[in-house]
Amino acid sequence: MKTLITSALPYANGEVHIGQMLEYVQTDIYSRFLKLIGEDIIYMCASDMHGTPIEVNAQKAGIKPEEFANKNHEKNKKTFKKYLIGFDNYHKTHSPENEELSNYFFDKMKKKGHIVKKKVEVIYCEECNRSLPDRYVRGTCPQCGTHEQYGDVCEQCGITLKGTDLLNPKCSICGKTPITKDAEHYFFRLSNFTKKLTDWLNHNKNLQPEIKKHIFGWIEKGLEDWCISREGPYFGFKIPGEKNLYFYVWLDAPIGYVSSTKNYCDKGECDWKDYWQGKSRIIHVIGKDIIYFHFLFWPAMLMAADLNLPEDIVVHGFLTVNGQRMSKSRGTFFTAKEFAELYNPEYLRFYYAKNLSKKMTDLDLNFGDFKDTINNELVANLGNFSYRTLSFIDKNYDGEISEIEKDEELIGKVKHIVEHVEKAYHAFDFREAVKGIMEISSLGNAYFQKKEPWKDKEGAKKAVGLCANLVRSLSILIKPVLPKMSVDLEKQFGEKDLKWNKIAFDKKIKLKEAKPLFKKIEKLPEKTKKFPLKMKVAKIVDVKEHPKADKLYVLDISLGKEKRTIVAGLKRYYEPEVLKGKHIVVCVNLEPAKIRGIESNGMLLAAEDGINVTLLEAPKSKPGDDVLVEGYESDDKQITFEEFKKLDIKVINGKVVWEKSDFHTVKEEIKVEGVNDGAQIG
Ligand code: MSP
Ligand code: ZN
Repeated sequence: MKTLITSALPYANGEVHIGQMLEYVQTDIYSRFLKLIGEDIIYMCASDMHGTPIEVNAQKAGIKPEEFANKNHEKNKKTFKKYLIGFDNYHKTHSPENEELSNYFFDKMKKKGHIVKKKVEVIYCEECNRSLPDRYVRGTCPQCGTHEQYGDVCEQCGITLKGTDLLNPKCSICGKTPITKDAEHYFFRLSNFTKKLTDWLNHNKNLQPEIKKHIFGWIEKGLEDWCISREGPYFGFKIPGEKNLYFYVWLDAPIGYVSSTKNYCDKGECDWKDYWQGKSRIIHVIGKDIIYFHFLFWPAMLMAADLNLPEDIVVHGFLTVNGQRMSKSRGTFFTAKEFAELYNPEYLRFYYAKNLSKKMTDLDLNFGDFKDTINNELVANLGNFSYRTLSFIDKNYDGEISEIEKDEELIGKVKHIVEHVEKAYHAFDFREAVKGIMEISSLGNAYFQKKEPWKDKEGAKKAVGLCANLVRSLSILIKPVLPKMSVDLEKQFGEKDLKWNKIAFDKKIKLKEAKPLFKKIEKLPEKTKKFPLKMKVAKIVDVKEHPKADKLYVLDISLGKEKRTIVAGLKRYYEPEVLKGKHIVVCVNLEPAKIRGIESNGMLLAAEDGINVTLLEAPKSKPGDDVLVEGYESDDKQITFEEFKKLDIKVINGKVVWEKSDFHTVKEEIKVEGVNDGAQIG
């Protein structure tokens, strides 16, 4: 039977990161495994190009949404190649196939009475003259009270929202308070499918039980109509017969699975309906954040369009890095491309496989564990067993062994594990598969060690031949996880395209060459973390009154070799004589600004708690000395005053602290007296 497998379509909103890559690796391993055992399977995916986040980001980049999405599409395609993600087709949702099929679905849904048009209130900005769908409006979440949430979903509590639900809404473009307005929108009657969806969930034995429970909870609460249209301007497909209404991105996105199939079949020998209507199995792999769409909306849409329902929807958890959400300031956010520049992408594939099972639990990429896994398992176990065996044969037997030891005990054990590995792959339990593979490699290593072939080369020849058979079989077993390395290993045996049924323990050996497979990891992937301010110690040389402002001083400062002028609002707090000669802390990469006619070149740092203001001082340091934040590297890039204001630098226990790190020079810590704890630095 034909199988079609998909991963969620990544937004063409930027470069894919190592969190998303988890899903493509997971899907790819399964797809490669089925191909390896000779099944008829295709892996379909595409870039998800529509919707407001892409529009907003394209606007920031100053280009059209389509151009922006296409750029990311091309970049990500390259990255997927680097990670050996073997899509049979990688299409895009902004395509003629997808438009045609979106209309096809919509038509079917409408004809069967599952679509209604309703009057609703929408949010409209009179300043920008447009309605504000999803990301175009921000406000406070009505459920949890978190500020600055978008009009589609609260990132804090996860509730799905309508723009009109937000408290205190603001237009994301101009910041003005929008008005509400009546509009007509299309809705999909999800509740028409309550019974059918319940039956499907009950009968489908593959779906993860913990997720089913979740979904039944939602169904019990009652399924609401789903708004599937958006007013223009919107980057998406215009709804047929409408002047200014477009399909909501989440309507045409899953249809992208089908249209990628159509695009694939149109280039070849098949028909998309062979997969979506005929005898076939469909498997979706998704992350836990998009369950609602895939377990309710999408199956209902498929039912309405008389297409096959997924036989399985495999849901994985989220990637955390060193136990926490990836974070730029902690230096743990990596695009997949960046990570591939540091390590062989197969290392990440291996690490993910080793930690993946068919569970929704999160997966942690711990850098120390990553290094240990690669060095101890890939390099010291599998790599070592392969290379020591093959290089021994190369050196001592001229690369050839024709008689192979029939050690029934060892072979029996290994065959048993092979069966287990096969079952584990089938069940998306890659952790178990990798465990079995490593066990075989350990058994092989121990066997080689026990036979001590270096003592009696001829006597141990047959046993080494069995070891070589184990290596050859291991190259097949690990192929779904490490496709490239496994081809390299195959080549050393002078073979290619080895399939699962070529696993054997009695093959004559005739090597082409013997080469090491992996290199150890030396360095952890931590990035240097950046602190956006560049700060130096400065001596105040002279203090003058600002001619046009009665609160300001004009200070001449010395940074050692360099002299600068800065304007500061200190007149209410310090006498000129007190200031003169002080060693203070100055931010030197702030954009210069004219303040009441005098150019200020940098800014002195002071702490203020609402009542008191105190300068940050460094009396023991020399003018020109760097002021550093522990654990961070200062960024040289110029920053704006707006950016500076967003930095949350505070006084804690009399010390100046940013993100839990202290400020210091080589000589001293920066301490502040005379302000309360919690005082802001500005
Ligand atoms: N475009 C939608 C999917 C449409 S499918 C018809 C989308 N795109 S996404 O780029 O945000 O996410 C793509 C996939 O990556 C999703 O399955 C998502 O759950 C997964 N992940 C995104 N961040 C992730 C982690 N940090 N960890 C693991 N998976 C993550 O959603
Ligand atoms: Zn506006």
